[in-house]
Amino acid sequence: MSRHLLSVDSLTRDSVNHLMHVAARMEPIAQRRQVTRVLEGAVLGNLFFEASTRTRVSFHAAFCRLGGGVCDTTGFTFSSMAKGESLYDTSRVMSGYCDAIVMRHPDQGSVAEFAAATHVPVINGGDGPGEHPSQALLDFYTIDKEFARLGRKLAGAHVLLTGDLKYGRTVHSLIKLLSLYDPMRITLVAPPGLEMPDYLIDLVASRGHRVEQRASLADDYRDVDVVYTTRIQKERFTAEMSEGFSLSRDFTVDRAFMDKRCGRDTIVMHPLPRDSRADANDLDVDLNGDPRLAIFRQTDNGIPVRMAIFATLLQVDELIEKDLRPVRWFVPERVGVDDAAL
Ligand code: ASP
Ligand code: CP
Repeated sequence: MSRHLLSVDSLTRDSVNHLMHVAARMEPIAQRRQVTRVLEGAVLGNLFFEASTRTRVSFHAAFCRLGGGVCDTTGFTFSSMAKGESLYDTSRVMSGYCDAIVMRHPDQGSVAEFAAATHVPVINGGDGPGEHPSQALLDFYTIDKEFARLGRKLAGAHVLLTGDLKYGRTVHSLIKLLSLYDPMRITLVAPPGLEMPDYLIDLVASRGHRVEQRASLADDYRDVDVVYTTRIQKERFTAEMSEGFSLSRDFTVDRAFMDKRCGRDTIVMHPLPRDSRADANDLDVDLNGDPRLAIFRQTDNGIPVRMAIFATLLQVDELIEKDLRPVRWFVPERVGVDDAAL
């Protein structure tokens, strides 16, 4: 694996498999049964210049669960970038303080520019409409775990990606990551104007996958193994696009769609957040509590996967087992009130 994690382009099937293996070994720590201090003394710089709940907090928590400490900065207002400081200078300064840096920024390519100025590992926590590689890794880990539970195989699987496929960086990273594996079938359903960029479709097709674009969810998706739906990224729209845009209810994944169009065991994923405003027509809450809805298992998986990324980049992945101790505090059996018993 290269020094930074900026794009899925730097990953190979072997490096992904290694991260999945390390993540699985992190489960007892992520599930709060055991503790480790392998990163004791290390400091993470967590720089978020765009809104985030999961990525920011789970990278922070993952570093803490490995025994490290975290310095945070959120938004441009509280960073000296608001005074005109460049990415280069910010990168060099932060590198003097931190052993690893996670950054989210609204401009595509900005995290790579930041990383070019440092020898300290940098992880792309989302660069505008570009990529979100750690999300793709946790999405892949989730698919792998759900398939193991359901006795399914990845080779030949059918994955439906829907929602904003143009600006959704999670689907850009995920489709690249899936393409590293044995041929599968990938169906893309996006509202007009928000289709997956052609270069990504061409890349995936060139690796032997069957990619198909459909205009609507009102179709037969009974053989789909995974429905991966995404939020419309209105914050990336031009003023012209925003004007009069509203997402038709036809693109909503809800219980009726799952019952009528999909199989009994089709799993539903979403990188989250889901937009809960009435006219957003994002993933419906009527699937809450349904075992097919994997979204919170998916967010939980962010912890072991992000721990694996840190442990691998900072080269302590072989030390984990030697350093484990049982936890001493109270831990509830299930963390969410609606969590399905599987
Ligand atoms: N949280 C994901 C991202 O930052 C997806 C989203 O915001 O819709 O890319
Ligand atoms: N999935 C994801 O990146 O969530 P946040 O935007 O809340 O970090």
